[in-house]
Amino acid sequence: MKVRKAVIPVAGLGTRFLPASKAIPKEMLTIVDRPTIQYIVEEVVASGIEQIIFITSSGKSAIENHFDYDFALDHALTDKGKTRLAEEMNHISNLIDVVSVRQKKPMGLGHAIWMARDVVGNEPFAVLLGDDLVLSEQPCLKQMTNLFNEVQESVVAIQRVPAEETYQYGIVEGTPTSTRVHKIERMVEKPAPGTTRSDMAIIGRYILQPDIFDILGKTTPGHGGEIQLTDALLALANKRGMYAYEFEGTRFDAGDKMGYLKAIIAFALRHPDVCENFSDHIKEVAKTL
Ligand code: UTP
Repeated sequence: MKVRKAVIPVAGLGTRFLPASKAIPKEMLTIVDRPTIQYIVEEVVASGIEQIIFITSSGKSAIENHFDYDFALDHALTDKGKTRLAEEMNHISNLIDVVSVRQKKPMGLGHAIWMARDVVGNEPFAVLLGDDLVLSEQPCLKQMTNLFNEVQESVVAIQRVPAEETYQYGIVEGTPTSTRVHKIERMVEKPAPGTTRSDMAIIGRYILQPDIFDILGKTTPGHGGEIQLTDALLALANKRGMYAYEFEGTRFDAGDKMGYLKAIIAFALRHPDVCENFSDHIKEVAKTL
């Protein structure tokens, strides 16, 4: 089966980014000239997905509005003769079919994904975290769908992390099956230092078989009353197999201050409008450090 739908959970509180995220969703914070979430939606579109399901909450309507058609803005720009800008705005709203589902309380990532069960139905689907950015030649999700088309089982994207950082991630252990691909055997959320020899950390990109919904529906809330995704992923891996894929590219956790700043620098250095001047500026700044 083909992956046609992508779930993007954006209902979290964004506490690591307060006060910036108090009135503005962290997913709407700007990286050079567009919000973080737009890069993620563009990755989804470039990967051949047909529909996006945002899992939202109150206070996140700016995300839905960003991808909606703005009649007043379209007319105001057209009246002023700014047709190119009007076309650019309309392009954003025409990118892809979007559906929103409300998560009434931030009950964890597992719960957020479970909220998509009726819209996704009985087919494999992608999950992209709304604050995880990947800069790559080929879109990260496209790399993953290529693998999914071969193996027809769930795929999680992983990156190698230093041993002293494994406690911050969901870590997978497994055996290599081909270049960049591992069959998952074990999975542990934020392992205590020294309890795993693996350095393969799960990042915010998944392709999941729909069996995950039943598993999530039966998962009891864990730490902080939240329904965690990792336990359900392990159950799914045991039930029908799962692959870890070491994607080509660089991932940024744009929901975290340092990750966000690193993302701005990386994306600005590749942006055709500013890359040259920005690169000169960075070199100047570096001399003063
Ligand atoms: P994070 O833990 O990175 O986001 O969740 P958060 O909870 O918003 O941020 P902090 O930790 O308080 O700073 C990963 C993704 O899952 C979504 C978030 O919006 C984010 O995109 N999420 C998380 C939900 O949609 N619902 C939840 O209950 C929790």
